[in-house]
Amino acid sequence: MQITLKTPLDMHLHLRDHEMLQTVAPLSAETFSAAIIMPNLVPPVTTIEEVIAYKERISKATGNLNFDPLMTLFFKNDYSYDFLKQAKAHITAIKLYPAGITTNSESGVSSIDSENLRHTLEAMSELEIPLCIHGETDGFVMDREKEFVPIYEDLAKNYPNLKIIMEHITTKDSVEALDRHPNLYATITLHHLLITLDDVAGGMLKPHLFCKPIAKRYEDREALLKVALEAHPKVMFGSDSAPHPQHAKEACGCAAGVFTAPIALQVLAELFETHNKLDNLQSFISDNAQKIYHYTPSPKAVVLEKKPFTVPETYDNVVPMYAGEEIAWSITSLS
Ligand code: NCD
Ligand code: ZN
Repeated sequence: MQITLKTPLDMHLHLRDHEMLQTVAPLSAETFSAAIIMPNLVPPVTTIEEVIAYKERISKATGNLNFDPLMTLFFKNDYSYDFLKQAKAHITAIKLYPAGITTNSESGVSSIDSENLRHTLEAMSELEIPLCIHGETDGFVMDREKEFVPIYEDLAKNYPNLKIIMEHITTKDSVEALDRHPNLYATITLHHLLITLDDVAGGMLKPHLFCKPIAKRYEDREALLKVALEAHPKVMFGSDSAPHPQHAKEACGCAAGVFTAPIALQVLAELFETHNKLDNLQSFISDNAQKIYHYTPSPKAVVLEKKPFTVPETYDNVVPMYAGEEIAWSITSLS
């Protein structure tokens, strides 16, 4: 059995910087046509000069792999209309983090409501710059995303012309909110389609499956699977592949993030095949995102076959999901 995926897109990706960038960027650039690049560097990407320089470093790290890094700015509440107007030529979206909620988000926003953010959100609406949000409160860890849904809805109602992407959704509540507002969209990761909290902490603790938002309940995974497998037009794939060095994951104080970039397409093929939905994978992996972001990628084709592949234990010092295990599908050709 085989499938050809055209122009795969990863609509939420962490490429980091320096040595880590050199390790991970080629792994995404080989198989994906483009990706939305997260701005949570240290310090975060907040100026046009930083966007341009980071994009250049990514392009250098990905060489001739025909990969388009779609850049983002780290949301700040004092971006002016004129600044955003200039920035628009260099970015695809702006990413909003609640302060301190995840890796490198300390300088995020501490009070998220439609009035507090009016200045910047009105400018973004007018300039048609999409807003990507890490939607978690600082409540009890299993309830953080559920508690954020009313905030998504407040923003969606108050800025009807603003495209809002609920990033890496993990709950049934977020899935249900999608259909209530025409301007709400979502990315879904691979790992949240596969695991629940049981896989992370139900037995021996699995640091390489620890991420933000934390994997939730079985009914949440079911709700995510349903919209992904049917390729609901408002959902798209965003890996949230978030590499950390092995020592930072296997530590007292484990860094949050699952590294899935090198196995994402193979495991998605297996998942969609298992559910007899392989025909919908093209929409989930590329076509929906193209429509939502009005983006046309340059050609790339990835042929996958149902043929076992043993996942490497590490890529340099980063441990991927399924490290050392055999997965059912392999990439057999790239063009
Ligand atoms: C991400 C990271 O490491 O940058 N971590 C994660 O657990 N997903 C940040 C994020 O997307 O929340
Ligand atoms: Zn992320």
